[in-house]
Amino acid sequence: MYFIGVDLGTSAVKLLLMEESGKICNIVSKEYPLFFPHPGWSEQNPEDWYTQSMAGMKELTEGIDRSQVAGISFGGQMHGLVTLDDQDQVIRPAILWNDGRTSEETDYLNNVIGKDKLSQYTANIAFAGFTAPKILWMKKNEPEKFAKVVKIMLPKDYLAYRLSGSFCTDVSDASGMLLLDVKNRCWSKEMMEICGVKEEQLPKVYESWEVVGTLKPEVAKELGFSENVKVIAGAGDNAAAAVGTGTVGDGQCNISLGTSGTVFISSKNFGVDEHNALHSFCHADGSYHLMGCMLSAASCNKWWAEEILGTKDFAAEQAPIQKLGENHVFFLPYLMGERSPHNDPDARGVFFGMSMDTSRADMTQAVLEGVAFALRDSLEVAKSLGIKIERTKICGGGAKSPLWKQIIANVMNIKVDVLEVEEGPSLGGAMLAAVGCGVYPDVETAGKKLAKVVDTVEPTPELAAKYEERYQKFKELYPAMKPLFKNL
Ligand code: XUL
Repeated sequence: MYFIGVDLGTSAVKLLLMEESGKICNIVSKEYPLFFPHPGWSEQNPEDWYTQSMAGMKELTEGIDRSQVAGISFGGQMHGLVTLDDQDQVIRPAILWNDGRTSEETDYLNNVIGKDKLSQYTANIAFAGFTAPKILWMKKNEPEKFAKVVKIMLPKDYLAYRLSGSFCTDVSDASGMLLLDVKNRCWSKEMMEICGVKEEQLPKVYESWEVVGTLKPEVAKELGFSENVKVIAGAGDNAAAAVGTGTVGDGQCNISLGTSGTVFISSKNFGVDEHNALHSFCHADGSYHLMGCMLSAASCNKWWAEEILGTKDFAAEQAPIQKLGENHVFFLPYLMGERSPHNDPDARGVFFGMSMDTSRADMTQAVLEGVAFALRDSLEVAKSLGIKIERTKICGGGAKSPLWKQIIANVMNIKVDVLEVEEGPSLGGAMLAAVGCGVYPDVETAGKKLAKVVDTVEPTPELAAKYEERYQKFKELYPAMKPLFKNL
């Protein structure tokens, strides 16, 4: 039997084919465009997700016995608002997780409804990228379009709907809508009322490993798969990545270095960050997690290399970097504003501290370090809650850089466990499919059995001490710039 994990990302859809044993047979990636119609806005066409996922599944399964595909599941970019009318047509482009247009709505939710109430209803406060403020934005700014909304869904759920016809979501992804009562894993009546949506407009909520349906006959035919292929609910990409890296059970940590950067801490128990800097969401293994999310992580390096330096050879740019912990340049990685812990859509990227002897390599190093410092901001919040983290897994495109892993280990002063496969969300998706098809008894067992650590990057005391000093300076920069960002 084969299982397909679909990681519906921001720059591309990544698909992974796994055998029952956990052996990975193929990985395919298909890109699609991302639109920035205004500074700080971010949109995509759901049709592109579907077309590229279908093309990707065909390519992924070339040369295998397609009748042996048993299940498909997902890890999807979170928080995106997808709206369908009564003919199942997409009403407007999806508004993505890193879109910052909802300052007013976020302020309204946090200050007029109030953080205490939001936290009581959903375990979270409002952040600009969450789905509920986007619903309020659409209601106010596009009332004719809003009046046509029959179905509201998240990006990966649009894919599940097109593949199976099932209007569904899962608890981990739904947690990021600010409409879910996270503790009780069901929609919050109060939040639906605040946002002016009815329960029938929202998908049915499943646990991540549950079967939501089978492939539509016409989809199965196009792919050459059996009509009995099960579609499994899947998870938000961070929870799926956590499954794929074995970050399941209690007190485990995973860092994802993708377009976004996240620090994900699994927990058997429900808990809320009293500072409201970390998100409190359901996990795909049936429990909960806390998570800090920075909006631009590996994307800062991609922007710097591709847009500014005009190269795609990231390794060559990093090769001359020798002196870790001694760079005089700082970089604030807030190219799309920032989520955790600042919750500031107006924040922007900054290089600070250059002099005439600053080199290209110093600037590249500053970008890598700036992302690591911003991840540490989330780790510090977790520590302040009494959570002890001594080691972490790591996944995502940025995790391919040995230098970046070394910087992260030393900036955060924790051990970084490197996995055999860095494709966290797509592997997690395939594992959820295997659990849904009954191959593994539960997600925790699958995650622990199939995610293999092959190396560990350890911090050294000297370097960690140098970075400690640099981090203290980094921490002073955002508060100093904050009033200036407002005026930009
Ligand atoms: C998490 C978040 C991002 C996206 C990226 O809260 O917004 O990690 O899920 O795809």
